[in-house]
Amino acid sequence: MHSIELPDTQVSLSRLVYGVWRLADDNDTSTDQVRRKIDRCLEQGISSFDHADIYGNYECERLFGQALKADASLRDQMQLVSKCDIALISDKYPQRRVKHYDTSAAYINQSVDNSLKHLHTDHLDLLLIHRPDPFMDAAETGRTLDALVKSGKVKAVGVSNFKPDQWRLLQSRMSHKLCVNQIEMSVLEQSAFIDGTLDAMQLDNVQAMAWSPLAGGRLFTDDAAAKRVKPLLQQLAEPVGGRLDLAAFAWLLAHPAKILPVVGTNNLERISGLADALKIEMDRETWFEVWTAATGVEVP
Ligand SMILES: NC(=O)c1ccc[n+]([C@@H]2O[C@H](COP(=O)([O-])OP(=O)(O)OC[C@H]3O[C@@H](n4cnc5c(N)ncnc54)[C@H](OP(=O)(O)O)[C@@H]3O)[C@@H](O)[C@H]2O)c1
Repeated sequence: MHSIELPDTQVSLSRLVYGVWRLADDNDTSTDQVRRKIDRCLEQGISSFDHADIYGNYECERLFGQALKADASLRDQMQLVSKCDIALISDKYPQRRVKHYDTSAAYINQSVDNSLKHLHTDHLDLLLIHRPDPFMDAAETGRTLDALVKSGKVKAVGVSNFKPDQWRLLQSRMSHKLCVNQIEMSVLEQSAFIDGTLDAMQLDNVQAMAWSPLAGGRLFTDDAAAKRVKPLLQQLAEPVGGRLDLAAFAWLLAHPAKILPVVGTNNLERISGLADALKIEMDRETWFEVWTAATGVEVP
């Protein structure tokens, strides 16, 4: 599987990224099971893993890190992405009164140090500010991200769920490039394609990562849009055994912006075939057929 070099960095991410948000939801959270997931990804060239400090009530990085601790040779075979700034209400932080965002220097630095400790590594390949913070001091946050890159604790920095003015403000206060914006995009969540977000990312040379590329599993429910688009996805996936999730990934992969889908299945069998998504051809008209089936109306 080829990879995509992040703008103005030395970091490349695999074309499909494996997201670990749901790692702690698996019935089996043993280090052996985590290792099996890592191996199935690496076997296919899925070498980038998407974390956040808060995933699994602050447990997912720790669970994943146990596998890295058990086999130190794994770290050099992968890229680790993590995020921070969401302060959850949690038994781990009993003093917190309200869920909030924190982009202060102290918070970001502490969160990165925790991620490094839990993941048993000395650096993150990419750190993202998880959500736009309405109380952000852009100068302080920008300085902090610059210093983290300079120190080598993180190789590259970016944002998630940001709108253009939000990343432009932060970027204007820092010297290293915000190279990624990770946002929700899927056949069922198309707004970024038409509200100017994806256009602005291309204008500013900000790499797109797509979270919840199956709409968090909604594609497999009785949701009306899901029911409309599933038969077509199934048909498009026939060359790879009819796995419609793979056609949903292929729809994102086909876009000229070279979107990186962040996949979230915990199922080992599903993980095993993920790379087949890259074999599904999706030309312009097919792409619009999927769009039209999902939205239920032809484009204006
Ligand atoms: N930056 C952000 O704000 C943000 C927000 C959300 C997520 N993320 C990232 O994006 C990653 C992916 O998000 P996601 O987990 O929502 O991705 P997703 O791929 O859209 O959804 C995964 C869900 O779909 C289910 N699923 C997959 N294939 C299925 C099938 N054939 N039949 C039935 N159910 C199926 C999975 O269940 P099984 O496990 O049983 O397969 C899982 O519950 C996360 O791990 C995280 O790294 C980032």
